[in-house]
Amino acid sequence: MTAADLDRLIAAACAVRLKAYAPFSQFLVGAALQTVDGEIIVGCNVENVSYGLTICAERVAVGTAVAAGKREFAAIAVASSTGCTPCGACRQVLAEFGRDMVVVLVGSGGVVEQTTLDRLLPEPFTFDDLDGPRGAGPGR
Ligand code: THU
Repeated sequence: MTAADLDRLIAAACAVRLKAYAPFSQFLVGAALQTVDGEIIVGCNVENVSYGLTICAERVAVGTAVAAGKREFAAIAVASSTGCTPCGACRQVLAEFGRDMVVVLVGSGGVVEQTTLDRLLPEPFTFDDLDGPRGAGPGR
């Protein structure tokens, strides 16, 4: 990924962050996934008055990407006021689609850290941990 690609990804995460629906926490988060074929797919957090139903920006982006037929990601930029890292649940969901993806954390002053999903979640639960027949059928 070039520096220009990275800049575009960061800009997309910052832009979608402003669309977050976060009336309960007021903590706006934007996520932008870079697909391996060069597309950018975004998501923002969507909160709910039943607090536990809140969906993080990263998972909204993953769901949007999968619904668009994209399942392989080279990078994700996550933008927030503090440059927060993806929560544990989001790390696991991201690991489904690219263990070695680059993760760029962006705060109000710019990039806070660039790391990889593998470093953030060294031992995810994976497909190979399942037993019994799997891998066939319409969901693959
Ligand atoms: N949140 C995200 O969207 N992504 C993260 O990586 C951390 C937390 C959201 C969930 C909730 O709407 C708000 O931030 C405060 O937890």
